[in-house]
Amino acid sequence: MAVLRFPDSDQTITAETEIRAALDAQGIDYERWSLDRVAADCSAEDVLSAYSAEIGDMKRRGGYVTADVIDVKPETPGLDAMLARFDKEHTHSEDEVRFILAGRGIFFFALDGGVASVEVGPGDLLRVPTGTKHWFTLCEDRRIRAIRWFQDTTGWTPQYTGSGVDASYQPICFGPAYLGARVGSGIGVDAKA
Ligand SMILES: [Fe+2]
Repeated sequence: MAVLRFPDSDQTITAETEIRAALDAQGIDYERWSLDRVAADCSAEDVLSAYSAEIGDMKRRGGYVTADVIDVKPETPGLDAMLARFDKEHTHSEDEVRFILAGRGIFFFALDGGVASVEVGPGDLLRVPTGTKHWFTLCEDRRIRAIRWFQDTTGWTPQYTGSGVDASYQPICFGPAYLGARVGSGIGVDAKA
């Protein structure tokens, strides 16, 4: 379950319907999807197969042309460099769509009314529109596995704003760390649909 925070006013929202409404007002979609159809240790191919209907629906909704499974663990080579690409305020020229299968991370959004953070965990889906100023990092266990959707297969490039606003916010996660079995043996992207 996600945790929505407005750090400037020290406001925390944990109710799913309230999170959805608050994010919807900012053009960000938040959904909860079931995880019970896949085992924690299933392969990326099994994930893509199990969610093929939802993956297809999402492709149609957003004009996405591909989906994959990203798998990041504490031992992932180059993890610090990878995280450093995304923990500074940036935008993308396409939507950022993530369905979290395992692990936890925290998105920060620089919105018109101030900064909001959304801590995401297993079962959470976020769809962040093109051009939204945001940054992201992992929670303490440095673990995340997620389905991603893309509108462009040529690459995933952050466009940095250089605002420095990200330096003012501590990426503190409040939800439970995922303690289930590690899944998959590959690092990074190990299947595409
Ligand atoms: Fe991003």
